[in-house]
Amino acid sequence: MFFPALVSLLLLSTSVSVQARPCLAFDINWNLLAFGLDGKDWNAGTQDTWTGSGQAIDITTSGRPPFDAANTTCYLSQYTNAVYVLSGDSKNASSIYIYDASAKSWSTQAVETGLFDLDSYDAILDHDTNLFYALSLDHVWSLDMGLLKAANSTPLTWTDAEASPFPPTYPYRPVMALAQNHIHFLNAPGVPAGSAVIFLIHFAYFQSEPQPYPLPNGSAFPATYGQATSFFQANGVQQEFAFIPEDSSAVYVINVETNTTQVLTGPTVKDPGATYFASITALVQLSTNGTVSFLPYQEGQTDANAGARWSKVGVLLSAAPPSTSTPSSSATGTASGANATGTGSASGPGSTNAAATTKIHLGLVLSAFGAAAIVV
Ligand SMILES: *[C@@H]1O[C@H](CO)[C@@H](O)[C@H](O)[C@H]1NC(C)=O
Ligand SMILES: *[C@@H]1O[C@H](CO)[C@@H](O)[C@H](O)[C@H]1NC(C)=O
Ligand SMILES: *[C@@H]1O[C@H](CO)[C@@H](O)[C@H](O)[C@H]1NC(C)=O
Repeated sequence: MFFPALVSLLLLSTSVSVQARPCLAFDINWNLLAFGLDGKDWNAGTQDTWTGSGQAIDITTSGRPPFDAANTTCYLSQYTNAVYVLSGDSKNASSIYIYDASAKSWSTQAVETGLFDLDSYDAILDHDTNLFYALSLDHVWSLDMGLLKAANSTPLTWTDAEASPFPPTYPYRPVMALAQNHIHFLNAPGVPAGSAVIFLIHFAYFQSEPQPYPLPNGSAFPATYGQATSFFQANGVQQEFAFIPEDSSAVYVINVETNTTQVLTGPTVKDPGATYFASITALVQLSTNGTVSFLPYQEGQTDANAGARWSKVGVLLSAAPPSTSTPSSSATGTASGANATGTGSASGPGSTNAAATTKIHLGLVLSAFGAAAIVV
């Protein structure tokens, strides 16, 4: 009785074990774009429409990356109205896919990596110079996007910019954010809570002392892993970024002009695998099951920000429904045995928009083997 269920679980698992990572971005008119969500790309419109009765527009078109890699990230180049996609194609890991948000078309930029490690890096796109900066192992690398909104036939190159002060053997997972042409590294080895190590882009060097960004009551944001994303301005340089610790307990907005930190409400969806993207007036979360939520934000309005609450981007919920199973509930469901197949198909190919997909199915297979071992 048990083996057919086990076999079907294994087959299911093989067929959907692609680990996908959709990503969010905005265009310069602050339309929210969701790429690779439920296998398609979407324009969710501007913030005033997100909770309305409409539905996101399907903008899936030819030349897009397959969004089948583990750590896909998207960036808005504000001067060109282009979105750059890093690690969007597992078979073409070094390429940068460019979405021209004005022309609504894709092209693929070839990139030479040299010693840059595509399996281990984190990157920001510098707003003013349109250069990527990445920390890969113990070096900072740069890649000049020029003013590209479509690929150039000449390959671009990751260039070694500077050795990092972080020990090469330290397993540092960077929390990297951009503001004022300064790259901020949070949770850096040996740096106290509430402070950032700063890399000055225009001078290509690390500031010798970490910079503190205290909370209003003098305490500090935690020294912990998490996600960071920069708020945009209507024009010009970015001055604030959000830091969301992995436990989703709060949102910290660091202002590099005043050297202070606001504390805002943590995401309703507590998901250590969630990713974030900010516009001028919203922080948007993409959870691993494909749920998109946002927190309204107003620069300089600390009281309003403190009272702001998270809502779901409803126009995406209806267009690209999130996967219904979570890693923990799938694993638990399977452990109970009899309805294992049913649980598995609930997270089947129609809902592989989640980075957690592989983990879910690995959990199913392991649970199935565990159950089989007990049954046999
Ligand atoms: C994805 O990111 C994780 C965490 O940083 C890293 O361990 C892993 O090697 C990355 N995978 C790829 C294929 O880049
Ligand atoms: C300071 O504010 C933070 C965030 O509101 C809070 O978590 C912390 O407990 C406060 N610390 C003190 C010493 O009041
Ligand atoms: C914030 O910190 C930077 C770097 O230490 C410093 O140059 C700047 O004057 C500080 N700004 C304020 C408003 O204190």
